[in-house]
Amino acid sequence: MTDAFRFETTSASDTQKVGEIIGASAQPGDIYLLTGPLGAGKTCLSQGIARGLGVPENLRSPTFVLMTKHQGRLVLHHLDLYRINDPWEAWDLGLDEQLLGEGVCVVEWADKAEEIFPPGSCWIELDYGPGDDCRILEIAVDSGSTAPSRYERLIKELELAFDSENDAKDSVKGMGDE
Ligand SMILES: Nc1ncnc2c1ncn2[C@@H]1O[C@H](COP(=O)(O)OP(=O)(O)OP(=O)(O)O)[C@@H](O)[C@H]1O
Ligand SMILES: [Mg+2]
Repeated sequence: MTDAFRFETTSASDTQKVGEIIGASAQPGDIYLLTGPLGAGKTCLSQGIARGLGVPENLRSPTFVLMTKHQGRLVLHHLDLYRINDPWEAWDLGLDEQLLGEGVCVVEWADKAEEIFPPGSCWIELDYGPGDDCRILEIAVDSGSTAPSRYERLIKELELAFDSENDAKDSVKGMGDE
């Protein structure tokens, strides 16, 4: 079963708000795999997730250190795989322990090591939209079975948030289930 939701944001703060919803509903062991070109908003979304998890400090891009750990309501492991040349370099970072742990993993440039992530992880693809500050986000979870995935509730919550958001403010547009 594949759950998916595609929508657009029109400012960095809206993308952070998406992250906050994700962080607020995150459960131990969640894995969020972010993809998209340079400047698409992966770090921006990660910052929102950190905030939603109650991480007190501002999260920065960990490009040079590859991995940072933060304490919020749950432990947050923030990784950026931009600089790795081989998927197994990610494994050598000790990523397996984090992926199997009780914390929440947020991985930028996860497509650089696609094969090492467990099935049923939550993939979030970000891309540029038609306007300067417009970004398209697509959240997809392939649970590999007919059972609903652990992210089903989150996807429903985002759908609800964006539908009601559209009534009040036209800056985050749900683009429907696809
Ligand atoms: N709707 C939007 N959502 C997110 N960021 C936006 C949006 N509109 C403009 N921006 C700007 O785009 C930039 C996104 O940068 P960010 O570092 O989050 O991208 P990234 O995908 O992490 O890039 P990199 O691949 O270099 O790590 C920021 O400067 C942000 O202000
Ligand atoms: Mg980044």
